[in-house]
Amino acid sequence: MSTPEVSRELAASPGPGERFDIFPTPVWQVPAPAMLPFHAEIKTLLEGLWNQGYFEAHNSGYGYQTREEIFTPANLERMEWVRLLKAQFVAACAEILRQRHGHSKALPFDIYAVQGWVLIQTSEQWVDGPWHHHHPATLSGCYYVQTPATREPWEGLLMFQRPEPASVFNETQAGVRPREGHMTIFPSGLQHRPMPTPSATQWRIAVCMDAFVHWNKRFEDPLSRYATRETYDAAARQSLGKT
Ligand SMILES: [Fe+2]
Repeated sequence: MSTPEVSRELAASPGPGERFDIFPTPVWQVPAPAMLPFHAEIKTLLEGLWNQGYFEAHNSGYGYQTREEIFTPANLERMEWVRLLKAQFVAACAEILRQRHGHSKALPFDIYAVQGWVLIQTSEQWVDGPWHHHHPATLSGCYYVQTPATREPWEGLLMFQRPEPASVFNETQAGVRPREGHMTIFPSGLQHRPMPTPSATQWRIAVCMDAFVHWNKRFEDPLSRYATRETYDAAARQSLGKT
């Protein structure tokens, strides 16, 4: 039998200690106010395509999507909002990539290709997109032209799966609420899906984009050995026999 003093000691809680939430996964939300004046034009364009019968269910990806060819030279030439959105997405991705860490910090990069497509989400019963990722793109994003009001707060969320094994301490999924006129940008390998919008009376319209990054590792010397990008480039050319 323990003395009353010892029992109290055993029962006393040492407290929860300090919690470290390690390995968080970043997702960014970036405003693109310069796009707002083009929303009416984009909606008119999409309504026109819809009325022409362009959008067939699952014809191009899940649900109602255009082909992945928004940023063709012809569209870039013809439509100002296409040029603007591409420029805004590339600039946001370049800014985000400044936050890279480890070995990649020593590597210059080019965003050498961007593909984009439109996803229209209706309130139809079957619209319930599957989990997917956009690998091998590096960063992916959605620009929201329209985020309709809904009855339930979960409707229309962009859901992400935690890229780690499940544990009792963390959510396995997390949602980001799309904001009209904003881009939500995330690492392309993250599994994600848009939640359905069964109570919406308008379309949920997202322009989806993938940024493909070329890491300029052209020879073995690390960039950090060189004072400037120019001297690195000169050494890289020399190593390839080009002066
Ligand atoms: Fe996606």
